[in-house]
Amino acid sequence: MFLRMLRSALAGNQEKPQKSMVEVLQDTQRRLAVAHMRAPRDIHAYIMFGEMRIGNELLMEFTRSCSNDSDSFVPPLKELHRPLASYFLARYFLYSLDLEGARAECGVFNGMSALVMCRTAKTRNPEFDGTDLHLIDSFKGLNRPGPEDHVQARAVDAGAEHGTRSGIAYSEGALAASIHGVREALRDFPRATIHSGWIPEVFPELPDTMWALVHLDVDHYAPTLASLDYFYPKLTKGGVIICDDYGAPLFPGAHRAWDEYCADHDVPYVVLDTGQSVIIKQ
Ligand SMILES: C[S@@+](CC[C@H](N)C(=O)[O-])C[C@H]1O[C@@H](n2cnc3c(N)ncnc32)[C@H](O)[C@@H]1O
Repeated sequence: MFLRMLRSALAGNQEKPQKSMVEVLQDTQRRLAVAHMRAPRDIHAYIMFGEMRIGNELLMEFTRSCSNDSDSFVPPLKELHRPLASYFLARYFLYSLDLEGARAECGVFNGMSALVMCRTAKTRNPEFDGTDLHLIDSFKGLNRPGPEDHVQARAVDAGAEHGTRSGIAYSEGALAASIHGVREALRDFPRATIHSGWIPEVFPELPDTMWALVHLDVDHYAPTLASLDYFYPKLTKGGVIICDDYGAPLFPGAHRAWDEYCADHDVPYVVLDTGQSVIIKQ
């Protein structure tokens, strides 16, 4: 302790106000956002994704139209992430179309990933109208974060500075969206069912069915764990659960819920380079 104080005093930083872990991560993200903002992102995108397609459609056009048509802003830092994450979601979605069961998304926000799934299905079946797709959101934003959602836990694992305080990135109610906006974005898919309510209280509204694919994007620990608890036992053999948030540094809760559920139920999974984690039920 004494040595640490002495070292700190010699470094002349004993007066520095302590940053919370969230602030440390937010500083890093801001720095990266500036770097991305100044970089020729369109050239990077063209080099990486220029020839990738979903069905016959170019991936870049496809994701751009899904974000525009759902009024979803994709910040510069996510511009190279979102197309690839959408591509992986689309590929798993197409795979799931050959399986028995319905499909669901937990965490819809303005409907961008829902639109990716619907338009992907349309590339396979031009008649696709949203049948058997269930979209679940509180439309009141995130639920109250619990201790597992505090950023400290994972950042310390990653070897962060001692003495940083923990904190949360987004508070209760952040990322609220309009159900009417989602209906409008999905107007070409009138049979997609939107379930407005809190997870898990809203689950009894869902049909008693098997599930072929579930996309989890609710950011926090409790709804991620509750969704895995609900859907995994009803997942068709070969069925898929994707968690969008596994690698998100500001949302350690989703990662912890996933790790906990998979360890407790001995479920194998993979983590993609986009940070999405994926189960295929065996
Ligand atoms: C990151 S956003 C989803 C992003 C969306 N998939 C997209 O493509 O833009 C997270 C969403 O999860 C919803 N959400 C979070 N916790 C929830 C809960 N306990 N019950 C229902 N919805 C929840 C929020 O309302 C928010 O719209």
